[in-house]
Amino acid sequence: MTAPKGELLIEACEMHGTYLPRFCHFRGLTPQASCRMCVVRVDNPKIPKLQTACTMPVSEGMVVTTKSEEVESVRAAMVEFLLANHPVDCPVCDRAGECELQDQTFGYGEDRTRSQYDDKEVELERQISPFIYNDPQRCVTCKRCTRVCEEWMDENAITVLNRGASTIISAFSGWVECSDCGKCVDVCPTGTLLHVPYKYVARPWDLKQVPTVCNFCSDGCSMLAGTRNEELVRTVARDGRGRTAEGINHDFLCSLGRYTIDYVHSQERLKRPMIRRGDTLVPTTWDEALSFVASKLNEIKAANGANSVGVISAARLLNEDQYALKKFATHALDSQHADFYHDDDEVDLAAFFKHGAPTIATQEHLQNADVILLIGSDPNEENPLTAFSIRWAVRQKSAQLFTVNSIASRLERQATKALRVREGSEAAIIQALLDEAKVDDAAAALGVKAEDVKAIRKAVAEAGNVVVVFGDELRGAAVEALSLLESVLPANVETATAARAAYVDGLQREVRSTNSTQKPSVNNNPYTYIVEHPVLKVGADRVTTATKFAFLPLVRYSNSMGATQMGLGAEGLHAKAMLSAAGSSIKALYVAGEDLVAKANGDAASVRAQLGKLDFLVVQDMFLSETAELADVVFPVTSFAEAQGTQVNNASQVQFVRRAIPPVGQSRPDWMVTASIAKLMNVDLGFGGQLKNVFKEIAENVAGYAGLSHNQLANEGAKAIVQPAPNGVDAADVKDRLVSQVAQINRNLAVDNAAMTAQAGVRLKTRYTTITRHSNMLTPDVSEVKVFPA
Ligand code: SF4
Ligand code: SF4
Ligand code: SF4
Ligand code: FES
Repeated sequence: MTAPKGELLIEACEMHGTYLPRFCHFRGLTPQASCRMCVVRVDNPKIPKLQTACTMPVSEGMVVTTKSEEVESVRAAMVEFLLANHPVDCPVCDRAGECELQDQTFGYGEDRTRSQYDDKEVELERQISPFIYNDPQRCVTCKRCTRVCEEWMDENAITVLNRGASTIISAFSGWVECSDCGKCVDVCPTGTLLHVPYKYVARPWDLKQVPTVCNFCSDGCSMLAGTRNEELVRTVARDGRGRTAEGINHDFLCSLGRYTIDYVHSQERLKRPMIRRGDTLVPTTWDEALSFVASKLNEIKAANGANSVGVISAARLLNEDQYALKKFATHALDSQHADFYHDDDEVDLAAFFKHGAPTIATQEHLQNADVILLIGSDPNEENPLTAFSIRWAVRQKSAQLFTVNSIASRLERQATKALRVREGSEAAIIQALLDEAKVDDAAAALGVKAEDVKAIRKAVAEAGNVVVVFGDELRGAAVEALSLLESVLPANVETATAARAAYVDGLQREVRSTNSTQKPSVNNNPYTYIVEHPVLKVGADRVTTATKFAFLPLVRYSNSMGATQMGLGAEGLHAKAMLSAAGSSIKALYVAGEDLVAKANGDAASVRAQLGKLDFLVVQDMFLSETAELADVVFPVTSFAEAQGTQVNNASQVQFVRRAIPPVGQSRPDWMVTASIAKLMNVDLGFGGQLKNVFKEIAENVAGYAGLSHNQLANEGAKAIVQPAPNGVDAADVKDRLVSQVAQINRNLAVDNAAMTAQAGVRLKTRYTTITRHSNMLTPDVSEVKVFPA
């Protein structure tokens, strides 16, 4: 058989249909080789004993025995050993049915036991964090959990306490303080670690598991939504291990995608349409609400003419919803004004795409980059999957990370060089990359040493492929200027190969000089010699882009990219301008899924005042938001779990969101509400009441979508949407504007490290107001935590 060079034997065997049992091995984690379940005999006189297939790379001409009496007796002994103190309480264990210990006992264990219950060591179960339950007796000490916490999350929040039969996984203090990603629970092969919100909720065989996509941040993790009795009870990463089509995130999910799903069944969900009678909103029928809205909008349009009604959507709504809203504005309302709500500080996608089609980096590109340049964002907080990919690239693939940030990020710990720069100065690093002569000036503007900027420029110039991850702090002409990097710092294969070899060799020497008690720091990869092929996807080749530079814009919401592609904000007034024009040129607003009042923060009073000037306000939302409270009519709409359609992540990959549960109450999908109103206004949007027809139109009309269908996306996973061909760029003009942007940076502003650290870590959770306000998981009640005495 053949396998990619450097692939691990355990994975190569699986690729060719021979599954080797394992506990400690887990794709994407460093080898541990502690459980000895994967032993095989390799026909080589130099190694005359059984070998662990999880640590051995394949080699030319290798002869391997995976099944023999010798191998089977060792595996059976290991299973017996692991069960010696195990309570075998499968009937009451949440993991039963998807437990690897159960499976491997059936597959490789004996049908007898020599250990009696009374002899077993007992460590009682305990809750160790708001989200983690721990039953130590079930542990096989594979350390997947501690490795995932250290290697994927860089948290080191849990560790192994005690030794031998008394081993438990916990924190030294007994209470785990961490970002609650829940991955330690997911990767645990047994029922030792369990998700608190899911404890005793369902058995795996009771669950209907629906592949869908998280709608929290713009990374767009795919996941399996587990439902029981038409209720969403859990989400797990869609893991590519045969359960479903492979997701872009492999086994990764963060706390938001995993635990905040409880808002779907919040008691505060709107169940029926509401209509204003006097000062109060009262429940009404769909028929009355729809007819009333249609006749009022027709009336306002007739009295005030075209462009008197505006449409504002939320960037988390699916493509189909956005497309329907845009078409509704154009065809039914006769209005150019349709935009999705932009926060003040949001990646300027218009500037980014202004000069054509920059190469967009996917998570795979990021995981395989030679150099990662992170500017103006903290993905750890805002795009947790991106943060994971960066950490993984540095640790497993020896990528070099450079950060240029005016906000603190825990990712700085992985950085070859981390520059904390003065607020609003990030543009200067782009100027330094574009023009070597401006390095000193850029450093002065950034508030850092010139030698540090030079070092970053040198690494970027010499690298074979560079992924620039940028957030909203990079603004103005600097965003446009990204498109010039490829021509100014072109790829040079010879220099890049030499620079890469020198960097990796330097790492190796550093690692070799550490002894076993001095664990190498996270960005020194001690395993490069052992595992040459560390990719998250089994048997995959290294994924790189054709261009040297690729970009990952960390847009704010789960479908900011899709909303842009559907043409929201392409013409007419932008959302905030519509608000300003309320009562003057804008007489009515149709708001879909956005809480304009809550988003205004300190300016809520003036937003309320503006909304008060309207003749008519329609809101469709899941909750009676502060904006909905002011509306004349409110429509209840579906959440991501009840809706179906497509969503585009920050890498411009479109993915299919599947309906997991029926609509809560009388809620309807956003696109359907809009189409119904249009119909009552005597305008047929042409969807025939069918979601697939909305997407059919998208495929016909929106650039990059040709040939795609819901079926294809559902079966084949994420597809890249490529924007239209380049318009050409006036390089001199962009550079001039960048120079004047950098010249305007206030160089007297202090670089305040302490303030940056204090401000870190609070942004994402405050953004999804609609969702986070109705999730109990973000502020779990820990008063009921029980820690049983051991
Ligand atoms: S939940 Fe995540 S961060 Fe917390 S201990 Fe587990 S793996 Fe570590
Ligand atoms: S708690 Fe689970 S993942 Fe961690 S060592 Fe024990 S069995 Fe392995
Ligand atoms: S990283 Fe983003 S898309 Fe993935 S689970 Fe977290 S919030 Fe959802
Ligand atoms: S899977 Fe190889 S030793 Fe555990």
